[in-house]
Amino acid sequence: MAESISKGVKIVVIGVGSVGSATAYTLLLSGIVSEIVLIDVNKDKAEGESMDLNHAASSDTKSRAGDYPDCADAAIVIVTCGINQKHGQTRMDLAAKNAAIMQDIIPNVAKYAPDTILLIATNPVDVLTYVSYKASGFPLNRVLGSGTVLDTARLKYILGEHFDISPDSVDACVIGEHGDSGVPVWSLTSIDGMKLRDYCESKNHSHDDAIYHKIFEQTRDAAYDIIKRKGYTSYGIAAGLLRIVKAILGDTNTKLTVSTVGDYYGVENIAISVPMKLNKSGVHPTDQIPLDEKETELMKKSSRQIKSALKNLKV
Ligand code: LAC
Repeated sequence: MAESISKGVKIVVIGVGSVGSATAYTLLLSGIVSEIVLIDVNKDKAEGESMDLNHAASSDTKSRAGDYPDCADAAIVIVTCGINQKHGQTRMDLAAKNAAIMQDIIPNVAKYAPDTILLIATNPVDVLTYVSYKASGFPLNRVLGSGTVLDTARLKYILGEHFDISPDSVDACVIGEHGDSGVPVWSLTSIDGMKLRDYCESKNHSHDDAIYHKIFEQTRDAAYDIIKRKGYTSYGIAAGLLRIVKAILGDTNTKLTVSTVGDYYGVENIAISVPMKLNKSGVHPTDQIPLDEKETELMKKSSRQIKSALKNLKV
């Protein structure tokens, strides 16, 4: 059922490849925006997607193809353009080419939509969130990346399958890089309000580390497993972007593990995911979550990974 449309709310999606088109479709069906503008170097693709979307519109959401001047007055500009990960590649393998694309397009967005919120989904998303922040000149609260919102959703799904329960019963999160150095926060994971260890004991479930290591490997490697089969991922990231858009447009102060710029775990000037508060003015820090010693070390390693990639780009 379409939720109430935020009247006069425009969202721009830059890039109408697999992620951008799935995101536009998800936004359209959500019924929470009144206008979706699609921008792509392939103008026919943008027009074709817009026409197709308008035939799916069950609400008075309208979609159209546009160009950078159409970013004016957009509440949020979602950036999905760039080369995507192929089988056998890591997200970091895309850094140089996609950073150049961000440095080319972000100034155009900032020129026509100086007050918008920039939501980056292109990979490697942490590196590109930082690159986009620098290229936009925007304040910290108006630049974020999808970060580990998708990893967190994957972990909750896989834990739900493992315990044969709804993912909604699982309170868990992945922080750090959206990539190979992501960090599952096992120490804060709970199920139906019970700490993970207590839940396992109450249900006579095994609770050894090997199980959680396997579960996190499935979470971390999900994109590789999907790309190997269908060539790309789209629905999971589109749903994650919708969660972010709903929190911003709904001014909900929801906490999500999105990627934002700052100094993290001893590493300055990077973007990485930790739980952040989202509302109509964008993204805001919350109290640092209490990690255990192992999780802290993993976050320091993840932060260094992102810093190293930024240094290689000379950003
Ligand atoms: C994935 C892409 C969005 O994890 O990085 O599916």
